[in-house]
Amino acid sequence: MTKTDKGYKGVGMKGPIARWYATSTGRSPDRFAEQVVQVRERTGPGSEILEVAPGPGYLSIALARTGDYTVTGLDISETFVEIARTKAAEAGVEVDFLVGNASAMPFEDESFDFVVCCAAFKNFSDPVGALQEMHRVLRPGGRALINDLRRPSLAAVPGGRPAEMTAAELSRTER
Ligand SMILES: C[S@@+](CC[C@H](N)C(=O)[O-])C[C@H]1O[C@@H](n2cnc3c(N)ncnc32)[C@H](O)[C@@H]1O
Repeated sequence: MTKTDKGYKGVGMKGPIARWYATSTGRSPDRFAEQVVQVRERTGPGSEILEVAPGPGYLSIALARTGDYTVTGLDISETFVEIARTKAAEAGVEVDFLVGNASAMPFEDESFDFVVCCAAFKNFSDPVGALQEMHRVLRPGGRALINDLRRPSLAAVPGGRPAEMTAAELSRTER
C-alpha cells in the first residue's frame, strides 16, 4: 500500500453519494452532540483539534460552535470539503476544512492536541499509515479518539440504531 493510492476502500464518497450522505446524517444531530461530549471529556478548552475524515463536517462544526477549540478537518473527498465549508459558513463558525489523505496528512509534526475520527477508519485503504499520521501530528501528551461502526452490533440490533459505535483511543506519550 502506498501513499499515492486512492486512499479509501471501495467506491469513494463524492458527488451525489456525498450529497446524499450529508442530507441523511444531518437528520441525526444527536449523534454529533454525543460525539462532542466524548471529545469534551478528553480534551480541554484551547485545544487544537483535527477531525480526520469529517465528511459533511457536522462534528467539526459542533466542536467549533462550543467556542472552546480551534478545529481543522481533513477529508479526501472534494465534494465533502465543499459541503463542509458551506455548512461552516452557514453556521457562522470557523473550521479549516482541507482536502487530503489520512495516511499522508499535509501537517507539520506535533500540530494538534487532539485527533478525532468517526465512522471512517474502516474505509481507509492504509489504516496503519493513518494511525502513524495521527501519531505524528499529535503533540506529546495528545490523544486520539477513533469511533467506528462495530459489525456485531449492527447484526445484533435489527432495526436498531445503525450508529452503534466502538471506540479506540491512542495517546501520544512525551518524548
Ligand atoms: C462514512 S463517511 C464518515 C463521515 C463523518 N466522519 C461522519 O461521522 O459522518 C467516511 C469519510 O471518510 C472519508 N475518507 C475515506 N478515506 C479517506 C482517507 N484516506 N483520508 C481522508 N478521508 C477519507 C470519506 O471521504 C468520508 O468523508
